[in-house]
Amino acid sequence: MNRTHNNGELRIENVGQQVELIGWVAKKRNLGALVFIDLRDRYGITQVIFDESFEERLKEVKNEYILSVQGTVIERASKNPKIPTGDIEIQASDFSIINTAKLTPMIIGDETDALEETRMQYRYLDLRRPVMQKNIMTRHQITRSIREYLDNLDFVDIETPYLNRSTPEGARDFLVPSRVHKGSFYALPQSPQLFKQLLMVAGFERYYQIARCFRDEDLRADRQIEFTQVDVEMSFMSTDQILEIGEGMIKKLMKDVKGIDIELPLRRFTWYEAMERYGIDKPDTRFGLELVNLNETVKDVDFAVFKNALEAGGHVKGINVVGEAANFSRKKIDQLTELAKTYKAKGLAWLKVNDEGVQGPIAKFFNEEQLEKLLTAMNAHAGDLLLFVGDAKYEVVCDSLAAIRNYLGKELKLYDPNTFDFLWVVDFPMFEYDDETQRYYAKHHPFTKPKDEDLDKLETDPEHCLADAYDIVLNGYELGGGSQRIYDQNVQERAFKALGFTQEQIDAQFGWFVEGLQYGTPPHGGFALGLDRIAMLLCGCDSLRDVIAFPKNTSATCPMSKAPTPVADAQLEELGIGVKEYESDKSE
Ligand code: AMO
Ligand code: AMP
Repeated sequence: MNRTHNNGELRIENVGQQVELIGWVAKKRNLGALVFIDLRDRYGITQVIFDESFEERLKEVKNEYILSVQGTVIERASKNPKIPTGDIEIQASDFSIINTAKLTPMIIGDETDALEETRMQYRYLDLRRPVMQKNIMTRHQITRSIREYLDNLDFVDIETPYLNRSTPEGARDFLVPSRVHKGSFYALPQSPQLFKQLLMVAGFERYYQIARCFRDEDLRADRQIEFTQVDVEMSFMSTDQILEIGEGMIKKLMKDVKGIDIELPLRRFTWYEAMERYGIDKPDTRFGLELVNLNETVKDVDFAVFKNALEAGGHVKGINVVGEAANFSRKKIDQLTELAKTYKAKGLAWLKVNDEGVQGPIAKFFNEEQLEKLLTAMNAHAGDLLLFVGDAKYEVVCDSLAAIRNYLGKELKLYDPNTFDFLWVVDFPMFEYDDETQRYYAKHHPFTKPKDEDLDKLETDPEHCLADAYDIVLNGYELGGGSQRIYDQNVQERAFKALGFTQEQIDAQFGWFVEGLQYGTPPHGGFALGLDRIAMLLCGCDSLRDVIAFPKNTSATCPMSKAPTPVADAQLEELGIGVKEYESDKSE
């Protein structure tokens, strides 16, 4: 095989050259005795023309056969401006079949007729489609840009174990049984968190790893059970310096991969500001429709829903859907109400503003003065639709209105899908209270440093204790997160106490790690970016599955290899494991 060019390379300047190309048969057309073949490889498509002398030999050539073609570059009579090689074609002088192919179960082109399940079962064919090749290569460019950036800043790429104890990241672990130590299990890492911190203790100062992480979570479009983080940790850096490193990486990769100049510094919202204005800690800031806090504004309004919420220490917030009053029928508002209810809101109150005042089921509860106040607070004018949620719980008000806001942003096309709006959310709360177990949990992880000025709140007011933790957000997705870590033994003990850990629990779960922190730990912090999510958003895809070569489907299986599968009894025996029978096993 003596390939002279690839299939995306030849141009009008090459006319007259003798070339040899190799590729898959993307399309074969007969035009009388002439045969046209589109030859495809990862670089593109080149058209080859065969004269009548090849008619017999070409009969056996079918789609997806691999051919080697020799010939001359000629100018095309009817040019194809849609492809870079569209000005030329190859007049074949000879060809050979390098390999044959079975009839493929799906159309291999940017547009395919195949269902996602088929695409995943024949992933190698799906990946042969130019769009998918482009996604996977964009992902490679992203990784390369990031490596370049971090290498240049003296970060050291260090691998950490896949087989270890579980780290306290909060999702369920994947366990791996030990054959040597029967009854004991390794856990696959949910992230390299504790190891990267120990690398700081070890003095490496700047670490990174493109690290695979494993979390046994329910899958969603933006969640896989194994995914990749750009994992970074550094010593002796202020939070501002860490964020600067992070956003410098984003700037470089946006330039390298998309040719877009991102302006730095990125905007920063505190967690509380993000919640107040958008109801969510990963706001899509490409459009307005901001939430308005109405606690003061409606406190005297005699509407039971608002009254009860406020009396219970809760909240009332609203959204002004500017100019949409006429476009929202009763039925459409009912749909929005259903959406709010899936986020535990008890309902969705609404008003339409018109020239005379307002109209809607709750209009009667407002007197003139209260109405005036409301319209001013919401900056509402004739033609606007106002939506409200009241609840005793802050999260319910925020979650439901944030969902409605995101839905309306998309539905009303309030943003350009090609914009990239990065921002930081900083100053997260340290803890989250869980009603069910009636205790505080670390919002990030138990080694996250409280803000210096909030240290006392660890004991006096944990609910309002803020952490030196931050997330980076893009277009409504959490791209990454990180924090400064606790390096002071005394503070670590206080944080554990606030989380309700007993000494025994600490020793059992993180004793090995806490021990390490006692030998001269430098102040350190870092972050991890979800590489799959970055790739998904930069490729303009809706699902991580389109930027991972071999992903799992929504039921956490691989339709191609059929993993996970039962294993041979002998394998289980060796591991000292017995498997209970389950209904689903019996039916197989
Ligand atoms: P965190 O748990 O926030 O932080 O994860 C960091 C980023 O990883 C991505 N991510 C995922 N991507 C795909 N599928 C998943 N199931 C999934 N889970 C998380 C997200 C997320 O923002 N050790 C800390 C980081 C640190 O403190 O340095 C950590 O893992 O984009
Ligand atoms: P009701 O008094 O239950 O008939 O509700 C009157 C209106 O208030 C309806 O439009 C409900 O959807 C709405 N509503 C009910 N509960 C809430 C709530 N918690 N927040 C906002 N609106 C609500």
